[in-house]
Amino acid sequence: MSTVAVYTLDEFVTDLQQAFSSHPDLVGRANAVAEVLQHLVSVGGWVQELIDKGGYDALPGSTYADPTHGHPAAGFHITCGAQKPGQANSPHDHGAGWVAYGTYEGAIEQTRWGWDYRDGLLRPRLVAKESFVQNPGEVAYFLPGEIHDTKNVAERTVVVRVESQKVATLWRHRYIKDGNTARAFLGEG
Ligand SMILES: [Fe+2]
Repeated sequence: MSTVAVYTLDEFVTDLQQAFSSHPDLVGRANAVAEVLQHLVSVGGWVQELIDKGGYDALPGSTYADPTHGHPAAGFHITCGAQKPGQANSPHDHGAGWVAYGTYEGAIEQTRWGWDYRDGLLRPRLVAKESFVQNPGEVAYFLPGEIHDTKNVAERTVVVRVESQKVATLWRHRYIKDGNTARAFLGEG
């Protein structure tokens, strides 16, 4: 019986290390990482293997933290988890880091937010700039300073994320839509 080679977690990590080390600039790195992530969510690899072995609840969430590569400093972090119907978070940024999101199964809606100063230079309003749906095999990233929120719009969605540096180690902000302001926090928040 022949076996089909699985794209392993080790191979994924090696490809990500290569993506970080071969591109010193922000967008070059993000695009290189996105390309690697896009390959994973296209082929399934170790993610499908985990689902086959243990079901969706067995997906680990925090999966791997790298000691040597990342942006702006070492410590890129891979997460892999299944989201329940309607699961959502509130607008946030990723501090000095950035995050690439890959959909393997299901669909997530992403919304980018930004400050609008049309009411006056000291009256910023937080407004939704664009929304899009990430279907299976699709990858999007949010660069440093960008504000976004994520909502699961399928029955179940499997998302693999690559944090350029573990976001739990970074100061960042969570945004208060109705109050047009934000609060700083450190960690998962
Ligand atoms: Fe995020």
